Amino acid sequence: MKDQINEIKEKALKAIEEAEDAKILNDVRVNILGKKGELTQVLRGMGALSPEERPVIGELVNKVRDEIETKIKEREEEFKKEALKEKLENETIDITLPATKIKRGSKHPINRVIEEIEDLFVSMGYDVVEGPELETDEFCFERLNLPKGHPARDMQDSFYITEDYLLRTQTSAVQARTMLAKGGNEPIRMICAGKTYRREDDATHSHQFGQVEGLVIDKKDKNVSLADLKGTLEVFVRKLVGKNSELRFRPSYFPFTEPSYEVDVTCFKCGGKGCNLCKQTGWIELLGAGIVHPNVLKMNGYNPEEYGGFAFGTGLDRLAMFKYGIPDVRYLYANDIRFLSQFDRKDEE
Ligand code: DAH
Repeated sequence: MKDQINEIKEKALKAIEEAEDAKILNDVRVNILGKKGELTQVLRGMGALSPEERPVIGELVNKVRDEIETKIKEREEEFKKEALKEKLENETIDITLPATKIKRGSKHPINRVIEEIEDLFVSMGYDVVEGPELETDEFCFERLNLPKGHPARDMQDSFYITEDYLLRTQTSAVQARTMLAKGGNEPIRMICAGKTYRREDDATHSHQFGQVEGLVIDKKDKNVSLADLKGTLEVFVRKLVGKNSELRFRPSYFPFTEPSYEVDVTCFKCGGKGCNLCKQTGWIELLGAGIVHPNVLKMNGYNPEEYGGFAFGTGLDRLAMFKYGIPDVRYLYANDIRFLSQFDRKDEE
């Protein structure tokens, strides 16, 4: 019987040694030590032994079982270590591999310009205000001294939705809204940037474009003058377009200002020498401006005897084009990723 036990032991140890994975190892355990396992069978046969032999064989069986169990445990540990090693190896991160590029959106050049204008004017004490894009004829025209049938309405081809509602053709509409909201006895310093719409369909104009409007109103004794307007626009243009820009005021006509001006800026491309962009004149037309018309003050609740001020307006598209050297206005609205991605972090460079 001893021989049989030793034989089982040798066989078991060999099988454990040769086991290739945890499952085979478990099979070995069941086959040898399980209820119907070989060693258990031997124990069952002990009844046939003499009383002297029983303890000897019993002790031997226990020793062999312990030995086999220890060996199985050791092998199990080995398997665990191997599995862990394999896992670690497979999960190694190669930090020298090139990283996946995370694509970020970028701010549209028009929005960059708006933010810059707003920051500048806020620093000069202006409020940033907004108005609706679907505007009434009343605010877009009538309250700006443009009654129905006024010939200057033809300057702006409009998208009318109904007889009274249209897509605003100019941010000047917000001038009237702001004056009314202030109630006629408070000074105003406001800036408003936003979308405007006109029925234009040629190659150099878009039916939707951006404008920015400024309005300053104060008591007459505060003397908000043309010189203040000029100084303000100089700060504005020099900050946005070029440090050395000069301004030139040309008399013009706008129904809501009197006197009215068109303001030219030295060409940002040639610095005023004359080039194809400025048509050899050295100047580029950039803004409309003037002293607020008494009728506009009156219609929107301000007494022109007591209050006065200036207003100005300009196209955001042109400003963005000047600032970033964009040659064609259509790039601004084509949503071409190749164009837009050039503005990634542009102002952080
Ligand atoms: N609203 C005018 C336009 O769209 C621009 C303008 C001119 C605005 C003179 C003003 C101004 O505030 O005073 O052509």
